[in-house]
Parts: sequence; C-alpha cells; structure tokens
Amino acid sequence: MQKRHKDRRQYFEEQSITTEKYVIPFIEKSIPITKNTLVLEIGCGEGGNLFPFIEKGCIVTGVDMNANKIKNANLFYANYTETNKPTFVLTDIYDWETDQKFDVIMLRDVLEHIHNQEKFLKFVKKFLKPDGKLFLGFPPWQNPYGGHQQMFDSTIARLPFIHLLPTKLYTWILRKLKESEKEIEAIVEIKETRITIERFYKIIRDQNYTISNSTFYFINPNYEIKFGLKPRKQLRIITKIPWLRNLLITTCYVTLETRTKQTKNE
Ligand SMILES: C[S@@+](CC[C@H](N)C(=O)[O-])C[C@H]1O[C@@H](n2cnc3c(N)ncnc32)[C@H](O)[C@@H]1O
Repeated sequence: MQKRHKDRRQYFEEQSITTEKYVIPFIEKSIPITKNTLVLEIGCGEGGNLFPFIEKGCIVTGVDMNANKIKNANLFYANYTETNKPTFVLTDIYDWETDQKFDVIMLRDVLEHIHNQEKFLKFVKKFLKPDGKLFLGFPPWQNPYGGHQQMFDSTIARLPFIHLLPTKLYTWILRKLKESEKEIEAIVEIKETRITIERFYKIIRDQNYTISNSTFYFINPNYEIKFGLKPRKQLRIITKIPWLRNLLITTCYVTLETRTKQTKNE
C-alpha cells in the first residue's frame, strides 16, 4: 500500500481540503450549510470530510463500521474543544439505532464499496429530513483508475484501465507482484459492486429520489491535493453518452432529494 494510504493523518487532511474547496460549495448549490446544520457522514472513515463542516459550526455525526478508522477519528478530534465536537459511532449503518434526521447526508467514496446499492440507498433515506439533501461522490468503476489501483506499490498503480482485466487474471498479476491479500480483496470488491452511471440513475429512479444537482469530472477534484492536477469537468456531450461516459468520468458529484419536484402547472 502506498505511503499516502498508510499515513491516515495525511489522508484526513487531504479529504478535508477537497471537501472544503469542492464538496461543500457543490452541496451549497442545493442547501445552505450554516451554523447548526445537522450533517451525517455514512462511511466517514477518520472524519476528514467532516472537519470543514465542523468549522462552519455544523453539528456533525460520523458513522463507520471500521473500528480502526473510528478510533483514529476520535484521536484526531481529541483536542477539539468547541461545543460542536463531532460524534462518531462505530456501527454498520444497518444496525444503527437512532431516530435522528439530518439536513445533509454525505456518502463520499462509499457507494462503490457497497454490495446491494439498491437496498443501501433505500435504507439511508430514513435518516434524511423531508427537505434534506443526500450528497454522493463516487467513481464509475470503469474509469481509468476506477479499480483504486493507485493504492498499490507496484507499477500497477500507474496503469489506467488495468482493473478491467478479468478478475482471475488481474488478481493473479497482483499476487505475482506481491500485493497484499487485504488490498486485493478491496479491489475485487469494487469489481463486484460495479457502479456505473446508468445503474446509479436506475437505482435513484426506482427509489424515488430526484437529482437536485450533478457535476461529472474528467479530473477528480481530489487529484488536486493528491497529485497536483487541476480538476476538470467532463464535456457535457460526453456526460450524455451512456457507457462511454463511465470510461471518461473519474468522479460524479450528485445531490439528491426525496421530495418530488413540482411541475410548473402544479
Ligand atoms: C473508501 S472509505 C471512504 C471514507 C470517507 N468517506 C472518505 O471519503 O475518505 C469507505 C468507508 O465506508 C465504510 N462503510 C462501508 N459500508 C458501511 C456500512 N454498511 N456501515 C458503515 N460504514 C460502512 C467503510 O468502513 C469505509 O471506512
């Protein structure tokens, strides 16, 4: 695994910077983020994405089922003394017992790790206030680095589209290159979940979500802090071409709402 992924403090800061500079301004096009906005991040990891929300005075909760990540989150915020100190909950979201509802729910880089995304997006709705917004940032799995191969130490990290090889061949190569079994497992998971823009649209339609805003990037905003690349939106015409667009979009930013939009005549 590359140093960046091992250094969780650095990772925390990178997530925080991208969220402050790109994610929050994007969400604010659909809902104001102010003092006392209730924010939930599902799959919050160490809580880096939540830091800029906290600085704006929001009341934030992070949920993750990975014990090490929640331990780090509590550690990274241990010295935070303001009244809006974040709450971190170690649980699988399906087991979280709460009646709380939130103005904003964040799912950043989570959907591509979830099996049965239909069930998941149906389930998370119950945590959203009627006027709340659900933010998703996810990479279509066929994009040049959609296999998360940049995690690896070997030359594989620099090979675009390598993850599109048949799973058996790909995992055989990774084992020959002595990549860790844990990382290989994570790669196989992304191949199994296979989120595409077409399937995402179908799921949200079936679950009665409405898109309140969307932006598709050719160069993911996160690559700015990670690799020094300037973020670039994908050409509108390409974002409209089914299947091809999955190869040329490195991340999708979308905000959803559950309210049905009224037509002009209503
Ligand atoms: C790739 S990480 C993303 C972390 C963070 N959102 C970020 O942007 O860095 C995906 C996270 O989702 C968490 N996760 C996946 N399924 C979950 C579930 N059912 N309940 C809670 N957390 C889950 C994983 O433990 C993992 O920490």
